[in-house]
Amino acid sequence: MNHPLTILGIESSCDETAASVIHGGKIVSSVVTSQLMHQKYGGVVPELAARAHETNIMPVVTAALEEAAIQKSALDGIGFTQGPGLLGPLLVGGCFAKSLAFSLGIPLIGVHHIQAHVLANFIDDPKPTFPFLCLTVSGGHTQIILVKDYFSMEVLGATQDDAAGEAFDKIAHLMGFGYPGGALIDRYAQEGNPQAFDFPAAHMPDFDFSFSGIKTAFSLFIQNKTPEYIRTNRADICASIQAILVRMLLDKLVKAAQKSGISTIALAGGVAVNSYLRQQLKQLAQKHRWTTFIPAITYCTDNAAMVAITAYYKYQLKAFARFTSPSLPRYPII
Ligand code: KG4
Ligand code: ZN
Repeated sequence: MNHPLTILGIESSCDETAASVIHGGKIVSSVVTSQLMHQKYGGVVPELAARAHETNIMPVVTAALEEAAIQKSALDGIGFTQGPGLLGPLLVGGCFAKSLAFSLGIPLIGVHHIQAHVLANFIDDPKPTFPFLCLTVSGGHTQIILVKDYFSMEVLGATQDDAAGEAFDKIAHLMGFGYPGGALIDRYAQEGNPQAFDFPAAHMPDFDFSFSGIKTAFSLFIQNKTPEYIRTNRADICASIQAILVRMLLDKLVKAAQKSGISTIALAGGVAVNSYLRQQLKQLAQKHRWTTFIPAITYCTDNAAMVAITAYYKYQLKAFARFTSPSLPRYPII
């Protein structure tokens, strides 16, 4: 292949329909449509999400091609999120990607959603060098991953129950915030004192996490509080619960860095947007002399640029998916 590769990436694993074009290793477009109708249910309704993806996918892909100023005939391959995620939403993106690739006669590339979150660290410069540790924190996953190469990743530790983003969202829900509430906790915490309230951290072996206990502790704490009390103390409550959640994440990251001797550290996933997490990571980086990497905010939450760059690296390995579902490759690495 001696011309710069042009790949379309499609993401549809949850409630974001997204498409992105990568050309010669650079992201030239990234379009994301979020589904707001889930807010009134306090969480994503899979069937509604699948239907919304069906409505959104064509305009989103068209917009991504237009933003990149390329015709679909110029594409060399199509990457799509193969999993993990909600089955209906994944099927919509997968069928669309498959049909388009088949009709254009170009390769189809299956992408692992969490691997894509990790590889979002390669979208902008400077890029991390291997090996590095990646704390991958989203609404569905919390893992410390040892990244040895683009497609050689080992999970060193993971949550044994809720994901960190899920804990943020459930706690926000208990405070009466909308869905997803993680970003609201972050926003209200800006004015608060992180030491105002004491919440118990879970102690798990090795590099594993648990967030279900703190969620229960928080529900017991909040159940007797009046709306007036919550309103008056909102900033301090948010700052305190956020501080303990972040401490639980970073304590394990420090432990993994010390045990592995690795000092190149990255973040990935929607919770990596959290300003307190970013700020605390910066302090730890100074203390432990780490080199740190965090994707731009738009590449932390679900997006298709991370799918496009993963597909771009996979294309070079000729790791293509077949068009018949039973033989689509599986990715047990994460
Ligand atoms: O990676 P992502 O967009 O979707 C999944 O793959 O799950 O992550 C979404 C999660 C949600 O739980 C959301 O509340 C959380 O990321 N999140 C945040 C912030 N922004 C998004 N959590 C804490 N602070 C934020 N600023
Ligand atoms: Zn995600």
